[in-house]
Amino acid sequence: MMHNLLVTGGAGFIGANFVLYWRKKYPDQRIVVLDALTYAGNPESLAEVRHDSGFSFIQGDIRDSSLVEKILIDHDIDTIVHFAAESHVDRSIHGPDLFLDTNINGTHVLLRSARRIWLKGEGRSHRFHHVSTDEVYGSLGPHDPPFTEKTPYAPNSPYSASKAASDHLVRAYHHTYGLQVTTSNCSNNYGPFQFPEKLIPLILINILENQPLPIYGDGLNIRDWLYVEDHCRGIDLVLQQGRVGEVYNLGGVNEWTNLNIVRLICGLLDERFESSPELGPRFPNSPAACGKASASLITFVTDRPGHDRRYAIDAEKCRTELGYIPKESFESGIQKTVDWYLNHEEWWRRIVDGSYRDWLKKQYGT
Ligand code: NAD
Ligand code: TYD
Repeated sequence: MMHNLLVTGGAGFIGANFVLYWRKKYPDQRIVVLDALTYAGNPESLAEVRHDSGFSFIQGDIRDSSLVEKILIDHDIDTIVHFAAESHVDRSIHGPDLFLDTNINGTHVLLRSARRIWLKGEGRSHRFHHVSTDEVYGSLGPHDPPFTEKTPYAPNSPYSASKAASDHLVRAYHHTYGLQVTTSNCSNNYGPFQFPEKLIPLILINILENQPLPIYGDGLNIRDWLYVEDHCRGIDLVLQQGRVGEVYNLGGVNEWTNLNIVRLICGLLDERFESSPELGPRFPNSPAACGKASASLITFVTDRPGHDRRYAIDAEKCRTELGYIPKESFESGIQKTVDWYLNHEEWWRRIVDGSYRDWLKKQYGT
């Protein structure tokens, strides 16, 4: 039934992966990306599909009601997949206001616009899919059972609180107005195109650049990691088979302490430098290029305030209702991710060097 998708935040990490996944799987369907190109948005992540006839990119803000309504009408949108958000916990601690505005008000503008356009008169068939996070459920102790869709909300950071509020608005628009919604709450993602402020790309790049690898607190906080393409497949399944009004938890059943993840990446890069002699001259400052262990860069730093100890997802509902099982093992997913960052230095170099905005202006006039 889905033909014309509006993907918000499609120039961000997961949104871009989703667009590429969707174009490949459903080449006949049309996609419009609406993205404000904040610091985290990068149209270059969509370069592969930029010139496709069924693809349009609109630079704009989800908080701009008239723009959103115009897009829904002009492009005859029947499905919204809503990724756009401020997404980094550390930034939310330093500046919560923007998180509330983008994540709460932005989601509300989308819902209100969808209601106005889709439910007018007799209404039309439609779907509003909201992409959310497992962080809304708060923090688990070491022996607590993982989060189910029934776990009470207990967000601890301004980021997770703003996402929790947006989840509630999505729910309310279904119950009050009959908007056809689904929500997915996913665990930590990793993979290509992730902005290098998040743990895995940050560690990878810092090793290549001989920078300290900052571990917050004791490094024993646990996250449940999912390869980004598996997240995209999960959203696809929810769109195709999910029940309207329902929430689905997506996770990798793959819990790791931060310290072990960092050690794993260090070991992988040491191996890569040993087996690929061209890496030494490309990254001469990296410890691995001088025969030293990447792990020598590990540095324990002051903990993040309110740092959640553990997240873990109970993926039973998705497994039984949707037949969802992640395809990528962590071992293969992290290898792919290391390869992607080694093979796409240009992509991250511009961001890390800070030349990204100037370059964007030249390329895209934005
Ligand atoms: P990201 O920060 O990489 O990308 C966010 C995108 O949204 C950027 O392209 C940005 O330009 C855009 N954006 C921000 N404000 C906007 C606005 N006002 N109008 C239009 N566009 C705007 O984020 P991500 O990691 O790709 O996360 C995408 C979604 O998935 C978020 O809703 C996040 O809460 C959720 N999520 C992320 C993870 C994760 O591990 N990264 C896990 C679970 C859920
Ligand atoms: P992050 O990638 O920011 O995702 P989230 O906070 O949404 O889970 O961080 C993942 C984990 O890694 C989290 O427990 C915080 C920790 N972390 C560090 O120890 N050092 C860092 O430099 C960063 C960015 C994160």
